Amino acid sequence: AEIVIVENREAAGELVAAEIARLIRARPDAVLGLATGSTPLPVYEALPAELAGVDVSQVRGFALDEYVGLDPDHPESYRSVIRREVIEPLGLDPSRVRVPDGSLPGIEHHGDDYDAAIAEAGGVDLQILGIGTDGHIGFNEPGSSFASRTRVKTLTRQTREDNARFFESIDEVPMHCITQGLGTILEARHLVLLAFGAGKADAVAGAVEGPVTSSLPGSAIQLHPHVTVVVDEAAASALA
Ligand code: F6R
Repeated sequence: AEIVIVENREAAGELVAAEIARLIRARPDAVLGLATGSTPLPVYEALPAELAGVDVSQVRGFALDEYVGLDPDHPESYRSVIRREVIEPLGLDPSRVRVPDGSLPGIEHHGDDYDAAIAEAGGVDLQILGIGTDGHIGFNEPGSSFASRTRVKTLTRQTREDNARFFESIDEVPMHCITQGLGTILEARHLVLLAFGAGKADAVAGAVEGPVTSSLPGSAIQLHPHVTVVVDEAAASALA
């Protein structure tokens, strides 16, 4: 992987937003892989300026994951987050941006439907990734198969604790999610993993230089030929 150490989140956001803008200028119907959580926010904040004057009407997007069983209109559902942080500020066509369907009826088919939709769009050009403190990417928690496809997973206690900050209490954090699989993520043409803060240092070191192991799902990026890792000094601090 190419490792880029930046001064702060804003610099990371501008760097990645500029790359996305280059992609969209070259390919107006580019397919973006969208992460949620705190990490990608500086990218989404920098994008409107980078995309000024660029036609985004044909851009497509696929979110990484969604909570299962949370009301889709709940402000912390990833459908709501993607609408609020990405679709509206960038002026994307909402019908061209998909989030996995976390509603219960038919959930056993939602993963296959999602992978089929990604394939039909021609695959993801640039996948934005964060990483969990336990090394997950998407919501592929430790033990996830590198061949996995979009499917329902159980969130670890650690991830529910980490994400409790978005809810009133940990009890409100759903137990399950639907996430692109590691196999799905690895099919994107360019992976851009971002991480900030000392809390991510061990996960970043494991993903970039540790053994390739499903115990640290982020290490799957080592199997991909085109990866850019953008980190601040603190998140880079455990790298050799
Ligand atoms: C979010 C996702 C997760 C997060 C990870 C880090 O769509 O797939 O892998 O990227 O949990 O979360 P933050 O960025 O909130 O620290």
